[in-house]
Amino acid sequence: MVWVPQAEGIAREAGAKLREFFARGVETEYKGDVDLVTVADRTSEALIKRRLAEVFPEHGVYGEEGTRERMEGEFRWYVDPLDGTTNFAHGFPQFCVSLGLEQRRPGLASDEDGTIVAGVIYDPMRDELFAAERGKGATLNGKPIAVSKIEVLAESLVATGFPSHKRHDNPNIHFYHEFTLRSHGVRRAGSAALDLAYVACGRLEAFWEFNLNPWDTAAGALLVEEAGGRISSFSGGPFELNSREVLASNGRIDGELMGLFEDMFAGRSLEPIPTPEEFARRRAERAAGAAHITSA
Ligand code: IPD
Ligand code: CA
Ligand code: CA
Repeated sequence: MVWVPQAEGIAREAGAKLREFFARGVETEYKGDVDLVTVADRTSEALIKRRLAEVFPEHGVYGEEGTRERMEGEFRWYVDPLDGTTNFAHGFPQFCVSLGLEQRRPGLASDEDGTIVAGVIYDPMRDELFAAERGKGATLNGKPIAVSKIEVLAESLVATGFPSHKRHDNPNIHFYHEFTLRSHGVRRAGSAALDLAYVACGRLEAFWEFNLNPWDTAAGALLVEEAGGRISSFSGGPFELNSREVLASNGRIDGELMGLFEDMFAGRSLEPIPTPEEFARRRAERAAGAAHITSA
């Protein structure tokens, strides 16, 4: 299939544009309270849309910055022209281009998923290109990749992210707390697509997030599966592009993670930490103790 090589070329071209904008610096605009967008997001999406139409004139395109073209077709690209806009806008070099291709059989309802058949994620700052085609494995810069072999959460490095919409409605900080206490650490690097690519290549054991969109996850979900990992809902149900929850793992610690999600949703298993107030009281007591020793 020519899907992946063509998508690689397009992602590289869009990534090179992002690199130029990044070096120059761009103005930040607001789509929502803390939902940022820049000229780089829009230019990258316009370029990707143009190139996809040239090489796959029948394929649909569903892009974060508003592209909705040929949505009735058998194939549909989910395009995140710049995943990690907040990082980009602050000069923090962690962002990527993500292109995922879905095949939709005729008659599928608009809220039903087809099959993700190809995915490409390109990090222009590291020149790392992650690619996968269904049934053919996953690669990083052309070399096969596989998920990690770690068996327990206690020895894992995991990642998550937080939404920019309705931040006060989201409980993820509790999960962040719990997973931090039970693992080697939780990274919040700011690009969900790269987080998924990192699970695929074994840099992370797992990634979870609430409320992602199909353009964030389509390519990365296939990468994880093709690298031998598992992608699902928090309770182990099938991953869906619009499911609003994603749990990706190396397929070895997923049982433990799902158990933890279940416990936490049921109000169990929270490891206590001091409140800021308790901590301040202890700190004041320590300071008073030290002053007493010095004056004695
Ligand atoms: C965001 C990033 C971030 C995730 C947010 C996404 P954007 O995408 O993937 O890591 O935590 O939920 O919205 O807006 O930079 O394309
Ligand atoms: Ca995104
Ligand atoms: Ca984006």
